[in-house]
Amino acid sequence: MSLGKYEQEVIAQARVMLEAAGVWDSDSDLNSLVDRFIVRADKQRALEEFKLAVSERCNRIPLGHILGTVEFDELPLVVGSGVFVPRPHSTVIHKWLDDAELDKGIRALDLCAGSGAIGLAIARRRPDMEVTCVEFEKIAFNYLNRNIARLATKDVYVNAMQADIYDSKTFAPFRHQVGLIVANPPYVPQQVRLQPEWGNHHPTAAVYSGADGLDLIRQITSLAITLLITGGWLVIEHGEDQAHSVRELFEQYQLSEIQTVIDREVSDTTGTSVMTVGCLSNGVKA
Ligand SMILES: C[S@@+](CC[C@H](N)C(=O)[O-])C[C@H]1O[C@@H](n2cnc3c(N)ncnc32)[C@H](O)[C@@H]1O
Repeated sequence: MSLGKYEQEVIAQARVMLEAAGVWDSDSDLNSLVDRFIVRADKQRALEEFKLAVSERCNRIPLGHILGTVEFDELPLVVGSGVFVPRPHSTVIHKWLDDAELDKGIRALDLCAGSGAIGLAIARRRPDMEVTCVEFEKIAFNYLNRNIARLATKDVYVNAMQADIYDSKTFAPFRHQVGLIVANPPYVPQQVRLQPEWGNHHPTAAVYSGADGLDLIRQITSLAITLLITGGWLVIEHGEDQAHSVRELFEQYQLSEIQTVIDREVSDTTGTSVMTVGCLSNGVKA
């Protein structure tokens, strides 16, 4: 297949970049990348790979893990085995953010960040914010760093921090410094059986969270009120049947302007898109 002038230029530029990056067999790697992403010269091999992918999907491997990428809020993210595949459900957070009129230049935390989808999408929409994505699991943290590096090429920037949200001391530098905390934590009760994609092929720590599914949400809320500035916002995704409990929890910590947002247009076998937001309007706690 003959390549156009622009494609040839892009490939020539890629050769220079691979060599400059110290890739040791850059020609061979370049050929593989061109074959995978620009032309499939070998149609028979393409068909074989298609059949293998279908067989994996029949084994209920998540589509994102097979494709190796997922589009989230217009961001092309890399994902794979060992990391949670971001769901469109979480874009409810970004729709809220677009209307929220938060101050410019505030610090934001994405707790339980996984591949970094939510934090990176915030940074794309609000480049004035200083976003830090927090994740404790090594594999997920590696994907987070890959996505951060790759999206820097699109001028989207966030920081990464490997930390357990139960380790409050780690968060000392953020104490009363943060204007926005978002989280899509694990929230499935441990006795619930899920589709194999979630129950068997996602890390347990990415999905389950204690007997009522609220362990992580309780920890995030208690941590958040020590980190938020007065007027700062806490935004947590959860299951629809958990809305009442999450509101009660927010009230217990004296958050105000509490609102549960449900987006029924984003709904699938994993549930409906639901989040609760609250504001720390009374200032310093704990
Ligand atoms: C439901 S996944 C969501 C990932 C990401 N926010 C998204 O929407 O794609 C929850 C993430 O929380 C992480 N996690 C679980 N417990 C944690 C803890 N104690 N501290 C930090 N991260 C944790 C898991 O490793 C997983 O990546």
